Order: sequence, then C-alpha cells, then structure tokens
Amino acid sequence: MKDSSGLEYSTDSPEVINTIENFRQDLLSMAPGVIDILEFADTYETSLTIQSYCAALWLYGQTEQADEQASYYLKRGRKIREGANEREALLFSSLEDWGDGKPNDAALKLEKLISRWPRDLVSMKFLEFIYYLLGQEYSGPRFLKALSGIYEVNKNSGYFLSSYSFALELCGQYDKALKAAEKAVEINEINPWAHHTISHVYLKKGEIDKGTKILEDYEYIWEKSGQAIKSHNNWHLALMYLENLDLKKAFSFTSETILKETPHLVIQQLDAISLLWRLEMGGFEVPFDLWKSIGNEIYENSRTNYIGFNSAHYIYALARAGMEPELEESLKLSVNFSNSLKRTEKKVWEEVSVPLIRASALMAKGKFSDSAITMQAVINSINMVGGSDAQVDLFRQAYLLCCINSGKRNESEEYLKTLSTSPSFTPLQEYWKSLI
Ligand SMILES: [Fe+2]
Repeated sequence: MKDSSGLEYSTDSPEVINTIENFRQDLLSMAPGVIDILEFADTYETSLTIQSYCAALWLYGQTEQADEQASYYLKRGRKIREGANEREALLFSSLEDWGDGKPNDAALKLEKLISRWPRDLVSMKFLEFIYYLLGQEYSGPRFLKALSGIYEVNKNSGYFLSSYSFALELCGQYDKALKAAEKAVEINEINPWAHHTISHVYLKKGEIDKGTKILEDYEYIWEKSGQAIKSHNNWHLALMYLENLDLKKAFSFTSETILKETPHLVIQQLDAISLLWRLEMGGFEVPFDLWKSIGNEIYENSRTNYIGFNSAHYIYALARAGMEPELEESLKLSVNFSNSLKRTEKKVWEEVSVPLIRASALMAKGKFSDSAITMQAVINSINMVGGSDAQVDLFRQAYLLCCINSGKRNESEEYLKTLSTSPSFTPLQEYWKSLI
C-alpha cells in the first residue's frame, strides 16, 4: 500500500499508513506528538516501518538506557524483515548500524536510500542526525550533496527546505541558507527547524540584534514544539544575548527554558552545560551549586561514551562540580572506549575526542596552559567529534580562552581572528580582545 507521497509499504492496513504519516508530520515539524508512535508498536508489530521508527526514536536518546530500548524494537524488526520491501529493509539495516555505533555505515545506507526514494523525508531526517554524530560541520559538504540530489523533487516542502537550508549553512553559504530557511517558513509556518537555521546564520554572520529580534518573534511557536527543539532553539536565543554580553539574561535561559521540561533529554543537558561553559568564558560566575546539581545529574551518562562531543561536555561539568573521583573514572572509561573501537570511529576517538576530553578537564580545573597545548594538536579537526558548527565553536572558544589565560598573546590574537566569521567583532569577541 502507498502513502500520500507515493512511498510503498508492505502493509494493506490504512491504519498503519495513517500511523506512519502522523509520525512523519510530527517528526518533520518537530512536534511533541512524535513519541505517540510508541503506543502503536504492539498493535502493528508486523510493520517493519513502525518498529524502525520506534527504534529510531530511542536511538535519538544517546544514552545506554535509550539504546537498550531501541534494541527491543530492532530485535522485533529482525523477525519480520524478510516480509519487508527493499526500502523498508534498507532503512532498518541503517538503524542497526546506528544502534551498533557505526554511524558512517548508517549514513552510506541512508544516502543510498534517499537518492533512490527521494520522497522519504523521514529517512532524510534520520540521515541529518547521523551527520550530527559524524560532526555536522565536517559532514556539511556530504550533507549538502545528499540533499541537493533530492532538491528538485522536494523543493516545495518547507520541511525539506529547513534541512536543506541547514546543510547550506554548515557549508558557510549563509545568504543562500537564509533564503531557503525563509522560504521554508513561508511554506510551513510551524517549522522550528527552519528557525534553527536562521539562528545559526545570524550567529555566524554576527548580526546579533537582528537575530535576537527574529528568534524572539518565533519563540511562541517553540512553546508548542517537541522538548528537544524547544531547548535547542532557546539555547540559540541565549547565545544571542551572550554575544551581546547580556550575561544575566543569557543565564536565565538555563532554568527558564533549556532545563525547564523534565525528565531532561541529553540535548537539554548538553545545551545547559555548553551555555554555562560559554558564560564562564564571557566572565560570568556560574554558581557552584548549579554545577554540582548538573554534575550529579549527568554522572551516569558520562560513563557511556557516545560521541566525543557529548563526553567533553560531561567531563567539563564533572570537573566544575569538583567531582574528582567521578571525573577520573569517566576519563578512564573514555580511553577504554576509544581502545575498544575499530576503523574510522577509533581514529576519531583516539586522535581527536580523547585529547579534547582531557583538554576540557584541564581547562575546567584552571590548567589553561596544559589545556591549550593539548587542544592545539586537535583544534583543526575538532569538527569531527560530533555536533554542529555553532556547537563545536564552544571548543574553539575554549582553546582561545586557554591561550589568553596562559599569556599566549600572538596565538590569541591570531585565533580570535580565525574564530570570527562576522565582518566586525561582537561585544563578546571585543571582550576577549580586551583580555589579550
Ligand atoms: Fe543548533
């Protein structure tokens, strides 16, 4: 049976198609209803697509517990994969790779899938997240190539354009990205992922006042969006205030929006740690009690190494919380994890993630010179540890601050220029300049 976009599913149940279409709408518009599909997993246990979507939802979780939940649906899917069509089987296989910690294999399969079935925007959305795991800035050209290949078929979909605009942004094509994101909003007003591209563009262009105003106007839409994007888009808005050195206002986002909804998702924890780390680099004193409560909260997750991007955040939080034994244990587990890997994943972990994690701990303890030396060796490959361009800028800023704090004047001046992608310095960058 086919869905409204012409994709074939191995089912003759209109209810299954309806469930699949509801999930697609909620995933693409980033609505909270996306999790509703879990309620249908047992009812439609013979639908591989529904089992795949349930597995993917948990795989987004980035914790050991979430992976265990995902493996339940993957196990169920293995029993029915024989009866599925080629596209459904390929999607399922890519999710197995994702679950097995092989994001590059997953990406290759999803790239193949969308080039053959370009209307499968759910698979495109999963692929976008796999690029996040591989480092979205690093994978930017690959992301853009994959989406350019399906542009003609999808150019009138606001949801497709929101992802396409983000791929353009990650490749530094800011004006084109903004145009595509604005068109995406014109087509689908409730499109927080397009707002997300817009936030990246204004941040990267250093147009802070304009960006702040536009994001504030969209904020009411995020209120009704899913938990992850509500947190992340508000994190972006907080960064705008931070760039303008409105530190108190930026700090208020930690409890008022980013960590507001509970239980916290990993993205909320990472956004909160990232904001606090950046606030410290802007000269703000983060209350120790807050670091302590975040340290306690993320301790369990810090023991699971998922991507270097996540681990560096966890390690920084543990160190700032003064949780020395937990910190040492998590550092050890990162090295063990790195040693257990194979192929590309091992190379990135060994050569980039582990040094970054160590450097993050050193910086958090005020050992700026040691941190700068450790970070210097990996800073040009930092976009391979996972995360987007704006997210890994955290580590670039950290390197700058470590250079500044250890009296490396020439390196600091040079690196500050490299760091800025805007025509003139923002107030935050001016502040850093004054410290050199
Ligand atoms: Fe972002």
